[in-house]
Amino acid sequence: MGYEDVYASWKKDPQSFWMQAAEAIDWDRKPTRALDDSNAPLYEWFTDGMVNTCWNAVDRHVENGRGEQAAIIYDSPITHTKREISFLELRNRVATLAGALKAKGVEKGDRVIIYMPMIPETLEAMLACARIGAVHSVVFGGFASNELAVRIDDCTPKAIIAASCGLEPGRTVHYKPLLDGAIEMAKHKPDFCVIFQREQEVCKLVEGRDVNWHGFQYGVEPAACVPVEGNHPAYILYTSGTTGQPKGVVRATGGHLVALNWTMKNHYNVDPGDVFWAASDVGWVVGHSYICYAPLIHGNTTVVFEGKPVGTPDPGTFWRVISEHNVRSFFTAPTAFRAIKREDPKGEYRRKYDLSCLRALYLAGERGDPDTINWAKDLLGIPVIDHWWQTELGYPAIGNPAGIELLPVKVGSPSVAMPGYDFKVLDDEGNELPRGELGSIVTPLPLPPGTLPTLWNAEARFRKSYLDRFPGYYETGDAGIVDKDGYVWIMARTDDVINVAGHRLSTGAIEEVLADHPDVAECAVIGVTDELKGQLPVGFMCLTKGVNRPHEDIVKETVAMVRDRIGPVAAFKLALIVDRLPKTRSGKILRATMVKIADSQEFKLPATIDDPAILDEIRDALKTIGYAK
Ligand code: COA
Ligand code: AMP
Repeated sequence: MGYEDVYASWKKDPQSFWMQAAEAIDWDRKPTRALDDSNAPLYEWFTDGMVNTCWNAVDRHVENGRGEQAAIIYDSPITHTKREISFLELRNRVATLAGALKAKGVEKGDRVIIYMPMIPETLEAMLACARIGAVHSVVFGGFASNELAVRIDDCTPKAIIAASCGLEPGRTVHYKPLLDGAIEMAKHKPDFCVIFQREQEVCKLVEGRDVNWHGFQYGVEPAACVPVEGNHPAYILYTSGTTGQPKGVVRATGGHLVALNWTMKNHYNVDPGDVFWAASDVGWVVGHSYICYAPLIHGNTTVVFEGKPVGTPDPGTFWRVISEHNVRSFFTAPTAFRAIKREDPKGEYRRKYDLSCLRALYLAGERGDPDTINWAKDLLGIPVIDHWWQTELGYPAIGNPAGIELLPVKVGSPSVAMPGYDFKVLDDEGNELPRGELGSIVTPLPLPPGTLPTLWNAEARFRKSYLDRFPGYYETGDAGIVDKDGYVWIMARTDDVINVAGHRLSTGAIEEVLADHPDVAECAVIGVTDELKGQLPVGFMCLTKGVNRPHEDIVKETVAMVRDRIGPVAAFKLALIVDRLPKTRSGKILRATMVKIADSQEFKLPATIDDPAILDEIRDALKTIGYAK
């Protein structure tokens, strides 16, 4: 069957399509139906099935003769370590860790925050939670204490599992003080913390609260897999919305297993036993789905890479890992390729390695710009497949399903809708626009299995963010077009979310930090185009009357505040002090116009602008930092 047939079979009978996909999963009790629409427009999948994620990702492969196969290859150019963990070893390690968590009182439904770097123990912690039905929430290591505290208060974890440190090139990220700071800041306190002491940094434990990763597992009874309902939350993953309060995306167990397993062959074209590598971080959705769960569920070997595309030690790192570990399909963000291209434009490092094992490169997380895609294609001589999805959706929604049929690539478009989706473009009033016209990208409800059923503790926000504006549809928050061949072109966000080096950030969250500076009366943050990272945040601040401190000091302080409160990942280094911000007569800040000025693009003067002269002041300010040329 080609793509058209597969897509048509889903469209004709979505229930049967997903029930058939569910056959590939080991259920403790098979679901009798796929969709549960009893609470529409909130939908759930496989609600009457009973299943365990860890069993499907680990134990069943041991039972089925894959015990000796590597489940995880850990490759860390930062620590000069390489290590393989077989499925059998992984099963034993995870069962013991799960047993230790259980012995400390963690039960089905309890939340556990995981704050760890790119090491195999992070995956083990995730799987151990899944094994006993605990709900994990992994927090990216590049977030600071305050962001961790917000997540602690939102998901109220019984335990936190953390490492002593993370390692960035040339810098140790001291997790422990960040963790202690977060717990102090948070209203909710976990019962206990498990600390994995890395040899690069051994931290001090808090007596009565912290236990040592190794010590607390000593002598415990390994835990068995606990079957959970199909709609039991597997995890919560926080992502940026338009305010400082992140959205807790909930992932339900049954749909997650079914959908992720389906994607491994159909999208990524790998068979069980093949090595799959997603060079991202477990703190992001790509890491959840394609470093941890999907490859393991499907019986693939996954690579846990602790390093960067450049500088660890050189722009040949990716090629070394692919060649050395026999990687079949490789997934990363375009920004990583831009980083390599900048350092090695002629691809000289690539020539040092035999990459004949690699069949396709997959790019996602941000727009795949044609320059980068073409460069990667010329360099590697294999298909470069752009695909589109979001934390909310959990796996590719728009793609080019190489395992079914590789469709003609249109560079700049992530290709076509996958089963489960039927993308339309609507105008602001909710009317469907003809093909080729730009508007809000939506897809009809219900969303397929494996997508978010709701937001943690925030059903009203879920409805408001995704369902209310266009009844009957899920609003993606992206703007774009669907062309005459059904290819989707993603052009921009429709909200205040920006994408920095493939990381999703909220300009609203950065504004909240700037506004907290005592000298700042008003501010706006926009995302400007950056050659390497795609976008970079730039802050504009108007000072409180009477403040006459040196502007450089205030800029420095606000940059430090953002790093301290949100974290280094915000990459907030550019801030400008201006007298006024451009606004409409009703007081709305004209951020989109400011972005156009920064990027030296043409724009229409907004009809409702209060005072057009302010735009010249903004342009002059931007020129001082190399923008608005
Ligand atoms: N823990 C602590 N700090 C982290 C971190 C982590 N896990 N990840 C990044 N940071 C820090 C970086 O060290 C950097 O700090 P600095 O300001 O002191 O230099 C800051 O956060 C910004 O990070 P980033 O924007 O990622 O820039 P970078 O220079 O470290 O790396 C790339 C640039 C392009 C190499 C890198 O962004 C990359 O590989 N991106 C891939 C994208 C990706 O994985 N996206 C996920 C979705 S697919
Ligand atoms: P995240 O939830 O962090 O994965 O970010 C999702 C957002 O990243 C999407 O809503 C898009 O704005 C953007 N995005 C992800 N993949 C692509 C892609 N292939 N092309 C264009 N934009 C993308």
